[in-house]
Amino acid sequence: MNDIRNREDIELLVNSFYDKVRVDNTIGYIFNNVAAVDWIIHLPKMYSFWETVLLDKRSFKGNPMVAHIQLSRKTEMNQTHFDKWLKLWNATIDEHFKGNIAKEAQQRGKNIAGLMLHKIKNYKN
Ligand code: HEM
Repeated sequence: MNDIRNREDIELLVNSFYDKVRVDNTIGYIFNNVAAVDWIIHLPKMYSFWETVLLDKRSFKGNPMVAHIQLSRKTEMNQTHFDKWLKLWNATIDEHFKGNIAKEAQQRGKNIAGLMLHKIKNYKN
C-alpha cells in the first residue's frame, strides 16, 4: 500500500469517502436531502481542499467553517454526526493508504472536525 502522493491519490480518497458518506444512515441525508449536494461541483472542490491541506498546493479557495455554520442552521449537526464523519474518513484512508501523509490526513480530519463542531456550537444562533 502506498502513501497519499499526488492529485490522483487525493481523487481516489475523496471519491471513496463520499461513496460511503452518500449511503450512510447517520450523515448521508445531510448531503442528499438537506444540502442536495451537486457532486459534480462538490467533489472537485474537495479534491482541491485536501490537496491544499495535505500536498501544499494552493488550489482551494473557500471558507469551510462558514459553510458548515450555515448548514447547521438548516439541520442539527452534533457530535454524533462528526464522529461518524471521522469514522468514515479514517476507514477510507486505512483501506487505501499507508504512510505519514495518510496519518496526517487522519489527524487533520480529526482536528478540523473538532474545530468545526466547536464553531457550530458557538456561532449557531
Ligand atoms: C457531519 C459532518 C459534515 C457534514 C454533514 C458536511 C456536509 C457538507 C455539505 C452539505 C457541504 C456543502 C456542499 C455543497 O457545496 O453543496 C460541505 C462542504 C464542505 N465540507 Fe463538509 N461536512 C461535514 C464535515 C466536514 C469536515 C470535518 C470537513 C473538513 C475536514 C469538511 C470539509 C468541507 C469543505 C472544504 C467544503 C466546501 C466548502 C466550500 O464550499 O467552501 N466537511 N460539507
